[in-house]
Amino acid sequence: MMSASKLLVVGEMNEASRHDAWQSGGNYDNYMGRWSRRIAPRFVEWIEPAPRGDWLDVGCGTGELSNAIVAHCDPKSLIGIDPSDGFLSKARDKVRDDRVDFVAGQAEKLPFPSESFDVVVSGLMVNFVSDRLLAVSEMRRVARRGATVAFYVWDYPGGGVEFMRAFWAAAVDLDPTARDFGEDKRFPYCTRDGLAALAENAGLAGIDVTAIEAQTLFRDFDDFWRPFTLGTGPAPGYCASLSPGAREQLRSRLRTVLPYDRDGSIPLKVRAWGVRGRAP
Ligand SMILES: C[S@@+](CC[C@H](N)C(=O)[O-])C[C@H]1O[C@@H](n2cnc3c(N)ncnc32)[C@H](O)[C@@H]1O
Repeated sequence: MMSASKLLVVGEMNEASRHDAWQSGGNYDNYMGRWSRRIAPRFVEWIEPAPRGDWLDVGCGTGELSNAIVAHCDPKSLIGIDPSDGFLSKARDKVRDDRVDFVAGQAEKLPFPSESFDVVVSGLMVNFVSDRLLAVSEMRRVARRGATVAFYVWDYPGGGVEFMRAFWAAAVDLDPTARDFGEDKRFPYCTRDGLAALAENAGLAGIDVTAIEAQTLFRDFDDFWRPFTLGTGPAPGYCASLSPGAREQLRSRLRTVLPYDRDGSIPLKVRAWGVRGRAP
C-alpha cells in the first residue's frame, strides 16, 4: 500500500489536515451529516434554550444543526455561517425558512458586532479550525451577556466514532503511517476535561460537558464503505489518496473485520461531547 508519509508536502500538521476538504455537501451528508443529524436535536434539547432567540450556528456546514434548531427551538432568527460555498448551498436547499440566513465566513473572525446573539452554537466544527481558542472566544464575543454558547464534537480520543475507529484500525494495519491521519491522534483534546478547559480559556462561565450517544446502523457493507470513497472529510480524503489496489485491500480488510448482525447490517455507535457555557 502506498505510504501516506510519501504525500508529505509541508509540515506534519498541514499533511494531517490536507484531506479536510469541505466542498460537496451531498458527499458530506452521506459520510457524516447523517450522523450529526442524530446528535443535533438532542444537543439543542440539552442546552435548554429560551424560545424566540436570535441564534448563530458557526461552521453550519450542510445545515444539520440549523435544521434541528428550526424544528425544535422556535428561533426568532438564525444565521448559519461557514466558509464552504458547496456546503452553504446544500444548507440553503435543506433549511427553507424565512427566519434563516446562511452566509459565508470564518469562525476565527465572525463578521458580527459583539453581543449580537442569544444562543451561539456549533456542531463538529471546533476541531477543524486553525485556532480553536480564537473560534470559541469569537463565539463568546458575539453572544449577549448571559447568552448560551455551546458546541459538540466527537469523542475522537475515546474511540467514540466506531465507524471511523474501524476504518483507521484497518488502514493502519496495512499502512502504519496512516496513524498520523487518524482523528484520535489529531484531536487529543476532544475529551471531557480538554473541552471544558477550552471553554474556560475562551472566557465562558458555568461550563458543563455531557456525552451524547447515538446508533449508527449501516444497512450493509456497501452502506458503510461507499461514503469513504466520496472524498469529503479526513478518512474519505485519505481513502481517495490511495491507489486503486491499496483501496481494494483496505475494503477487503474492513469487510472481514466489521461486526455484522444476522441481516447483514452493521450496528455501531457514536459519542459526542456536548459543551455548554454562558457569556459572562
Ligand atoms: C464536520 S463539518 C460539520 C458541519 C455541520 N456543523 C454538521 O454538524 O454537520 C465541519 C465544518 O466546519 C467548517 N469549517 C472549516 N473551517 C472553518 C472555519 N475556519 N470557520 C468556520 N467553519 C469552518 C467546514 O466548512 C464544515 O462545514
